[in-house]
Amino acid sequence: MNFVSLFAGIGGEHIALKRAVAKVCASSRNRFYACDVDPRRAASFAVNFPETTFRVRDLAKTTALDEGFEAGGIDFLWASPPCTEFSRVKGTTGLNAGVQNLANDVLNGWIRTARPRAFVFENVPGMQNWGPLDERGARVKSRLGEYFERFLSELRALGYAVSTFKLDGFRFGGASKRVRLYVAGFLDAASPFAPPEPPPKIASKTIRDCLRLDLPTKPLARLRGKATLARLDAARDAGWSDALFPNHGFLHEAYPLDGAFPTLTTRPPMFVGDNLKNYRYLTAPEAGAALGFPDDFIYVGAGSDAYRGVGGSVSVDATEAILAKLFGEVF
Ligand SMILES: C[S@@+](CC[C@H](N)C(=O)[O-])C[C@H]1O[C@@H](n2cnc3c(N)ncnc32)[C@H](O)[C@@H]1O
Repeated sequence: MNFVSLFAGIGGEHIALKRAVAKVCASSRNRFYACDVDPRRAASFAVNFPETTFRVRDLAKTTALDEGFEAGGIDFLWASPPCTEFSRVKGTTGLNAGVQNLANDVLNGWIRTARPRAFVFENVPGMQNWGPLDERGARVKSRLGEYFERFLSELRALGYAVSTFKLDGFRFGGASKRVRLYVAGFLDAASPFAPPEPPPKIASKTIRDCLRLDLPTKPLARLRGKATLARLDAARDAGWSDALFPNHGFLHEAYPLDGAFPTLTTRPPMFVGDNLKNYRYLTAPEAGAALGFPDDFIYVGAGSDAYRGVGGSVSVDATEAILAKLFGEVF
């Protein structure tokens, strides 16, 4: 069978895909194709998945036919289009209609032409608001969700039983809260896909379990940002000697290391330790541990660049649960 991963990043989804295939439909004849526009992601991807054909491609311009997939030539397709344009982090103006339209590019360039037997799109829940933008790049309030509904109707018109659902990756494992929206479709199915139930008991990890506490830190005194000071006050008021500070402009909370990570984004949060005197930014392997990446995953690249690839990844355990259930029903 042919499995296709679009917007593959450094491969969070691909870890889950490979595990689900191994569980449900392993075969030496399975073929894997993945692509992403960013060559920096390609380096990590290629070293971790040497048996997958990886291409650096802009999906606004690349179709299934360009990549050699004829009608019926794809069994399963996964697409994680960039979520920043739909997320709260980005703000409410200056949104990019072309990036938002990448889901339609996949619909037209891949699903309409190659007609995979099943597909899953993954994004932030804000994708449900996808609609026209005004001249400031802000959503037209009276038309919120119009393009999203059209997207679903077009998929249904192609013969897919389509379902949408949200899952929090944290309920399936890992250490990071990660609520995501999924759009799943089966070709010619009697009923749409129902999401997996989270396992009743998981051995959830804490932030502390994922941190490398031996890594060097710097004095916090040099950081005087308003948000940092507010977070420092919050941690002191709570009586903590260490904490995690998220790196989003709109949040002012500090998080205790004995709980779960807040949603990770492509900007690394800060670990603040030594009685709240020293700090450093989270590393790519630490974020990987929080999202369910295996300990032997190789992160190519330095600092925040390596981090960005993990910060944008799916939650591995939740993705594996979805795919194992879906493959059990389709293949
Ligand atoms: C949400 S991340 C994908 C995460 C990935 N599925 C994972 O689990 O690790 C979105 C990805 O889309 C890629 N991307 C953005 N614009 C693109 C385009 N026009 N064509 C192809 N890939 C694009 C980014 O480089 C980024 O890696």
